This record gives sequence, C-alpha cells and structure tokens, in this order.
Amino acid sequence: MADLAHVLRHLPHYHDPNLLAGDNPADDAAVYRLRDDLALVQTVDFFTPIVDDPYTFGQIAAANSLSDVYTMGGIPVTALNIVGFPVKDLPIEILGEILRGGTEKAAEAGVPIVGGHTVDDTEPKYGLAVTGTVHPDRFVTARGGLPGDLLVLTKPIGTGVMATALKAGAAQAEDMGEAVRWMTTLNRNAGAAMLHAGARASTDITGFGLLGHLTDMGRASGVSAEIVAGAVPLLPGALDAAAEGFIPGGARTNLAYVEPDVTFTNISEPMRALLVDPQTSGGLLLALPPESLDRFMRHAGPAMLATVIGKLADGQPGTVVVGP
Ligand code: CO
Ligand code: CO
Repeated sequence: MADLAHVLRHLPHYHDPNLLAGDNPADDAAVYRLRDDLALVQTVDFFTPIVDDPYTFGQIAAANSLSDVYTMGGIPVTALNIVGFPVKDLPIEILGEILRGGTEKAAEAGVPIVGGHTVDDTEPKYGLAVTGTVHPDRFVTARGGLPGDLLVLTKPIGTGVMATALKAGAAQAEDMGEAVRWMTTLNRNAGAAMLHAGARASTDITGFGLLGHLTDMGRASGVSAEIVAGAVPLLPGALDAAAEGFIPGGARTNLAYVEPDVTFTNISEPMRALLVDPQTSGGLLLALPPESLDRFMRHAGPAMLATVIGKLADGQPGTVVVGP
C-alpha cells in the first residue's frame, strides 16, 4: 500500500542549485541561497490542540513551528498564521486566545506575525509558516554526524504520553505544568549554542519520537548510534503514565517503523514507548564533537536541560543500540 513517504518520493523533482536543504526527508526546513552570504530558511507546521487551554495551545504551536528554523541554526524573521476553526460551533474568543498565545510566543522570539489564513474546519488547528535567514555555509542538518560524536538532547521527552494521560483525566496538574513549560520553551538558545559549539548534525524531536528522528539522522549521516536509556531525560510522571498504558497511537506506529533498525537490551515496555513517543515542540538532538561539549553547555545556559544520551558509531547506518 502506498504511504505518504511513497507519494512524496514520487513527486516530480525540480532541481535548483540554490536549494541547499529541504529535498532530504531528514531535513527540518528548506534552505534556499539568495546570495553568497544569505539564505532563506522556510518551514511550516500546524496541528490540533494537545492541551485544553487555547492560549497555551497557541504558545506551544508557535514554539513548535519556530523550532525547525532554530534546528538548522537559522534566525526566524517573520511568520504567517495557519488556522482551521469550527466558526459555527465554538466561540470566536477561543480563536482569539489561540492567536494571542501564538503572537506572544513569536514576539518572544523577536518574530512579527505578518498575516495568515483561516479556514472553517471541523476542529481547531493552528501553526505558523516561518521564514528565517541563515548563512549558506553555516547551517546544520541531520546529515553531518561522525562516529564518536556525542548525542545531546536539550529537552526531556514524554509530551505525547502526558497529553494522552491528560485526555483520560489521569495526569497530575503539577506534571502537566512541567510538560507545558517545556513545550512552550523556544529552542532558540539551544540553536545558538549549537552553532557556537560547531555541532555537526542537528534535528528536533517531534512526531517520529527520539528513536525515529535518531534513525533518520543516522541514515542521513551514514552512521549508527548507541543510546543509554537511563541517561535520557524524561518528563516527571511520564514513565508512570506509560506504565499505566497512556501511550498515544503514534508511539506504536513509530515503534513499528524503527523496530527493524533498533536493538533494545533490557529496556522495559514503558521505556520503549517513551523512546518512540511523538513529541510536540521537543528539544534538539545534536551530534557534537566531544571536545565541543563544554562550549555547548556553557552557551546553552541553565534554561535548557542539555544531556548527553549516547554517541554516534560506525555500525550499519541508521541502526541504534539502546542499552539500560
Ligand atoms: Co523538525
Ligand atoms: Co516540523
């Protein structure tokens, strides 16, 4: 059966020497050279609410959309709203709160929202199309990792599991607050620190989960990876919620997708679920030369929870060994 990846692969291909990134499935955003010293970075993302509060949802969606620009080392410049809303079924004030959240988060990033488009829809959807800039020789993709590079993750994982527990009324308010705090945290500092420290590869953790994005990075870089599950930072309450069965459908799809390439050694079922848990506005996953780690940590600052979770190796490209 044809899936989306298959359909995308078979689209007519338009070759342009100025398109520097965006034609590889592992690329987070497109990079297009305008001049020898200036390239555009473009990305778009939108989704349905994962929290009840519309203002918070707007903040999360905006932070998530901006992330793909930071992931590549770009600076976001402007953004456009993309909105679906059930105009007849929900009070329009709710849309106002979603847009206020998005606008304030974008403003925190120094990005004006310069327009947008709304369609009548069966459920709310929100996100941004973001335009940024980067130097054409100084952007980072998932493609440059080398064996021996340290893998650094900048946010704890578990947002999909926590949102699933929330929908079932089973998430502690305190734990959910922590999940929201991370989802609304911009990846700006991490992106800047990554450039400063000379990261060789970068991707942000979103829908395919940690292992999905890591196997993609491995394939794109031509390397394997080794992860220490015990070192992976988790949201408070996430492991318990996964053990209680609050596992989103996307995690099962992701596990099936990565299973041929991943070897789990003594990893519990709930931990496996978290390692493939679809993330919303997740952290950056970086491949750093070991000698650059100190510099990265100093520049990322205390607002990011930068943690070494493993390293790249010279095994079969795209494979991952997960140890306890
Ligand atoms: Co991304
Ligand atoms: Co994205």
